[in-house]
Amino acid sequence: MAKQEDQFKKVLSHAKEYGYVFQSSEIYDGLSAVYDYAQNGVELKKNIREYWWKAMVQMHENIVGIDASILMHPTTWKASGHVDAFNDPLIDNKDSKKRYRADVLIEDYCAKIEGKIDKEVKKAEKRFGDTFNKEEFVATNGRVLGYFEKINSILSRMGASLEKEDLADVKALIEELEISDPLTGSKNWTEVKQFNLMFGTKLGASAETAMDLYLRPETAQGIFVNFLNVQKTGRMKIPFGIAQTGKAFRNEIVARQFIFRMREFEQMEMQFFVKPGTQKEWYTAWKETRMKWHLSLGMGAENYRFHDHDKLAHYADAAADIEFKFPFGFKELEGIHSRTDFDLKAHEEFSGKKLQYFDHEENKSYTPYVVETSIGLDRMFLAVFSNALQEEELENGTTRTVLRLPSVLAPFKAAVLPLVKKDGLPEVAREILNDLKWDFNVFYDEKDAVGKRYRRQDANGTPFCITVDHQTLEDKTVTIRHRDTMEQSRVSISDLKTIIDQEVNAKTWLQKI
Ligand code: GAP
Repeated sequence: MAKQEDQFKKVLSHAKEYGYVFQSSEIYDGLSAVYDYAQNGVELKKNIREYWWKAMVQMHENIVGIDASILMHPTTWKASGHVDAFNDPLIDNKDSKKRYRADVLIEDYCAKIEGKIDKEVKKAEKRFGDTFNKEEFVATNGRVLGYFEKINSILSRMGASLEKEDLADVKALIEELEISDPLTGSKNWTEVKQFNLMFGTKLGASAETAMDLYLRPETAQGIFVNFLNVQKTGRMKIPFGIAQTGKAFRNEIVARQFIFRMREFEQMEMQFFVKPGTQKEWYTAWKETRMKWHLSLGMGAENYRFHDHDKLAHYADAAADIEFKFPFGFKELEGIHSRTDFDLKAHEEFSGKKLQYFDHEENKSYTPYVVETSIGLDRMFLAVFSNALQEEELENGTTRTVLRLPSVLAPFKAAVLPLVKKDGLPEVAREILNDLKWDFNVFYDEKDAVGKRYRRQDANGTPFCITVDHQTLEDKTVTIRHRDTMEQSRVSISDLKTIIDQEVNAKTWLQKI
């Protein structure tokens, strides 16, 4: 646990020190759970967004993108159910006066039991050595099975109570499990209450005529209300999808863990409209496709898992999360939801406008069902960044900090470094830079010894360093150094573009899907 916290602290300080993420309005002591992306962070974020867009829109003939407004007619949120049901169950500790999400307290309790399972596995691994079969052990060991049973029974009771809005039972569960305030250890809890997460604002100049609005809590509704416009103007045939990336806002009560849970964040969502009755197939297919997208980035299959929901949102008939192993444990990174025809039907009812699809093959109209994939861009940023940050022991006994970002996502693809700041080397280095920058984001650095500059680029996640030395002046070759292996080779300047492109091109990465 201490090791995890340590790693997380390193992630926070590295993100600030290397210009990835800053606290919003830091000079005024910041605004809680609101962050700014700095000069490198904005590039990494843009590259993640583009990698998603390429995979979801450009590579699918039947998926198109839109960019809907953040502000929407307020009835949208009545229809979608957010006004009545977009709540978190909150509980206060009477002694510490701290407020918590009741479901998160219970989930954290279960995560601790999971920790015990991990310990049992590690112990057995040590005992049995090479003959150890993890799957068999987990499926047969009495103590581990007992832990699993306990987790299941807690989570299904919580799911059922939340579903029934039985908040008294959620509190009873917290008391029975003897869950205490994580900060003070106090078990003196209030009742559990529901709290709506939408931010309100006003449209209009005068107080009398101003209209109450909400900042959108998800991008999805901008897609639903535009469903028929896109279908008709794009002559889309079912099954088809509409994708969108953009800001969403939630008045998160327990906002912590850096950019994992923010009040202003960005989503990348895709609504896939299908024939009623086929939603289960599409739900399974999208679960698989999205997991492959994650795996294509090479961040380790062992760091992902599916979590099927016990408690379904008001709109879903099936839902699963893709969880990622963040520095603070496995947590939701992306949601895949089978949203039925709930949203389109609700918007039809509230607007009085038909939102149906005419199926020429079947010669009839129907309301399509929807399978949604929804990932937080900031959460993906944190997954990529925290997974990439490593400290390595080198053979010469020193350590280096290296940010092993997937090169397709790295803010800068290469750094061009003249070995010394004289003899015409900076001029040649700038010529190389000026040529490469048409195709890649490239960095120029001539300050400090070259070894120090390599380390800086390693810590910044730059996949290649190109060094211009005196030999360059004679034979138009440079050394190219690879961030991950630190290997160097001599290559011709004219080959640089091809070498870098092979490594950083989205095609190379996405073809793994
Ligand atoms: N349209 C469905 C929807 O919004 P969600 O599970 O509430 O579903 C989808 O959110 C994704 O958005 C999550 O998996 C997560 O990655 C991201 N997300 C949700 N709330 C967030 C927050 N407060 N801060 C950062 N990301 C968040």
